[in-house]
Amino acid sequence: MKFILSIVAVATMFVMISCGGGGDEGAAGGADWKNDKGVGPISSVQVGEIDQALVSQGSTIFTQKCTACHKIEEKYIGPALKGVANRRSPEWIMNMILNPDRMVKENAAAKKLFEEFMTPMSNQNLKQEEARALLEYLRSVSP
Ligand code: HEC
Repeated sequence: MKFILSIVAVATMFVMISCGGGGDEGAAGGADWKNDKGVGPISSVQVGEIDQALVSQGSTIFTQKCTACHKIEEKYIGPALKGVANRRSPEWIMNMILNPDRMVKENAAAKKLFEEFMTPMSNQNLKQEEARALLEYLRSVSP
């Protein structure tokens, strides 16, 4: 009996995971963007006061891996990233960095961006810590 129960529990978890992060709602500018975590490895991030050490780490990675396509102040190959932390949740941003391929297929807000920019954001194979530093940097340019 216990065994069956745990199978049910695991199955339920899978259903929750596969639906949970999906997010057909919360498209760009949608009222629900704060709850849209996107799809990918990140389900929860703690953010607090801006951490300047992380910002400077993130800024270095940004210059190396992101400026081919992004500027802060203006649109380029991808969207301008100023203020991005005021329209996307921290989890969404990290999932976009770590899992762009699935994001543009399965997350409504990312799909919409892809339709607008018509270039796929490439997966840079970053570690979660690197994505976290980038998040801090992007928060620092989102007054
Ligand atoms: C090959 C070009 C390219 C590279 C490199 C790239 N991006 Fe993108 N990025 C895009 C495009 C294009 C979009 C819009 C979605 C799409 O079309 O896939 C996007 C979307 C985003 C978004 C969502 C913006 C919004 O308005 O919601 C974030 C955040 C982002 N990128 C961060 C990054 C970071 C951080 C890096 C560096 C690790 C990076 N990108 C590297 C092209 C790129």
